[in-house]
Amino acid sequence: MNSDHLNTQLLHWGEEEEHPFGAVVPPIIQTSLFTYPDIQARLSEFNPHGYDYTRSGNPTTELAERKIALIEGADRALCCGSGMGAITCAVMAMVNQGDHVISIKTAYPPTLRLMNEYLPRYGVTTTLIDGFTVEEFEQACQPNTRLIYLETPSSMFFHLQDLKGIADLAKARDIVTIVDNSWATPLFQKPAALGIDLVVHSATKYMSGHSDIIAGVVAGSSALMERVNHARNTFGPTLDPFAAWLLIRGLRTLDVRMERHQKNGLQVASWLETQPGVKQVNHPGLNSHPQYELGRQQMSGYGSLFSVELTPCADEQAHAFVNSLRLFRIGCSWGGFESLVLGWPMREPEAGKRPWLFRLFIGLEHPEDLMRDLEQGLQKAFGSR
Ligand SMILES: Cc1ncc(COP(=O)(O)O)c(C=O)c1O
Repeated sequence: MNSDHLNTQLLHWGEEEEHPFGAVVPPIIQTSLFTYPDIQARLSEFNPHGYDYTRSGNPTTELAERKIALIEGADRALCCGSGMGAITCAVMAMVNQGDHVISIKTAYPPTLRLMNEYLPRYGVTTTLIDGFTVEEFEQACQPNTRLIYLETPSSMFFHLQDLKGIADLAKARDIVTIVDNSWATPLFQKPAALGIDLVVHSATKYMSGHSDIIAGVVAGSSALMERVNHARNTFGPTLDPFAAWLLIRGLRTLDVRMERHQKNGLQVASWLETQPGVKQVNHPGLNSHPQYELGRQQMSGYGSLFSVELTPCADEQAHAFVNSLRLFRIGCSWGGFESLVLGWPMREPEAGKRPWLFRLFIGLEHPEDLMRDLEQGLQKAFGSR
């Protein structure tokens, strides 16, 4: 059935492919290999079943890929065994020796490691910028710039980049653009519609949504995805069919989960702004965010990952805050059902005090319980009001 609504699209794909025998849930084609009926078929590389080897393609993985391409508004999507697998394939497929890359400096740290430590080994240089304005990207352009890498909102600081403005600039100069869209998901941000060439995701996060798989996605136009496909087949991080099946399961509830994450996240973030011991809350859905208007223009909703800067305190106070939380578990991922916290001191102490930055992921628990938990944590650190 044709529908303009993403939640309906995610639930109802092609009848035959998704529902063989009328099964509500599609089977997992858990095989590494697809054999040929005769040697002529093998030599012509045409298998009547359409598949050859799961590293190159598998019906279960392709079902996930087609659903994601649909909701991203892309010609094609390819799933990888992690977000970093997807990012590495996308970047490596787009650059050649002697090229120059522009990336925001607050991208996910292992992505920056790819740019800073690995690309130089192959003669590719990178300029890191804040990326608050299109002019900054323009100024960073060199004659050999071939790739602009974005992540909006960005890791830890939740800075935004102007997707349409940067896409226009890049198109005029024949530069490929990639954006990490894990935070907003295609439900709340559609980079392809704004002119961005490739979208990457850690599907470990919201897309799968249950903290039980590691997965990644690249989506884009057929021509660019052909290059990404070649890279994925060479480097080999194709997603396993069982993980793809769990990803499909997560996609069925993406819409309802994101609505709840958005609501809970905004409620907890705006409440935190009023709490003693909190200096600043970095959430693009808050009026206080310096790029709030840009966020409203290019996103239709918000993820529930944000950061909180505490007023300078002794390390023991910051430790007391985080260690006393009961509903927020300490962990480095996000996007599942459960609330999480992670924190770092921001600089060296002065007179025994320093600011700490905590990243909070707001899960699907009741927001009142989460606020009560945070309140008692702040009281442990800073005393009662
Ligand atoms: C914004 C962002 N992009 C990419 C990744 C990498 O994804 P994965 O852990 O699935 O490799 C992460 C992981 O935390 C992330 O937060």
